[in-house]
This record gives sequence, structure tokens and C-alpha cells, in this order.
Amino acid sequence: MGNYTLTMIKPTGVKNLNTGEVIKMITKDGGFRIVGMKMLKMRNDQAKAFYGIHSDKPFYDELVNFMSSGPIVAIALEKENAVEAFRNFIGATNPTQAAEGTIRNKFGVSLQENCVHGSDSDENAQREIEFFFSSSELFDTDGNLFEL
Ligand code: CMP
Repeated sequence: MGNYTLTMIKPTGVKNLNTGEVIKMITKDGGFRIVGMKMLKMRNDQAKAFYGIHSDKPFYDELVNFMSSGPIVAIALEKENAVEAFRNFIGATNPTQAAEGTIRNKFGVSLQENCVHGSDSDENAQREIEFFFSSSELFDTDGNLFEL
């Protein structure tokens, strides 16, 4: 059980001006600590690589096009049992099935545009955090740099 996970506020979440509220919910309500954070726009090939584990899925091309369509906010988070805790916190992948008051329930507009991504395993969390952040962009509780 690891203590880190990676989220992205997806292009629709940023476009709909939900970035501030989502970060507030994650930190204040969820109790997750921000270890690293940046806003960026993924190129198509970057989105392809990030979601490579879904390359055999019918929704892959559409997901890649959407995720590279506008800026996202990538955030590395820390909490005990972070992957599971975060997935429970944000609600089910499909916003129509996400529990009342969760981020995906409040801000998700479709299965694809479900406001936020959450890593699905410790192994993927590490890969995804390293995808976006170098060792000079991740901080411990004292503000010192650290490696995962
Ligand atoms: P995310 O947490 O970013 O991880 C993979 C994404 O694929 C998921 O959120 C959804 O947005 C998307 N996804 C999963 N299943 C489907 C599906 N059946 N159709 C379209 N998109 C999907």
C-alpha cells in the first residue's frame, strides 16, 4: 500500500473554472497533501503515452484527443493508502454513478469528461507521477525535495 497518487483536472474541469474548487475539495475535505502541481497542455503523443495501458480499448483515440484538447492540471498527492483513498473520494468513473457530493458527481459531464483522473494502482501512480514531474518538482512536508 503506497502513499502517493496522481490526479489530473481534465480539460473540461479547467475550462469550466472548477480548478480552484476541485483543489480545495482534495486538500481541505479529502485531506490529501499536494506534493507537486503544474498546469500544462499535453501533446497528442504525450496523451497517447500516458493512457497507453488503454490502447486496446475502443475509447482510446477519443480519450487521447480529449485529454490533449486543452490545458490540464496535474497534481501529485500524498495520503495513507492514497490510490484507494483518492478513488473513493472522487467517486465512480461514470459521473452518473458517482456518489452525491463527490468531485465527479459535482463536476463530471460524461464518462470521458469526468473532471478528474485518479491512478488505479501504486505501480501506475509512480509511473504517472514520474511522467509529469522531475525530482526537482516534488516536495516533502518541510518543503524539501524528495524522490518517490
Ligand atoms: P480516467 O480516470 O482518466 O482513466 C481512464 C479514462 O477512460 C477514465 O477516467 C474515463 O474518462 C475513460 N473511460 C473509461 N471507460 C470509458 C468508456 N467506456 N468510454 C469512454 N471513456 C471511458
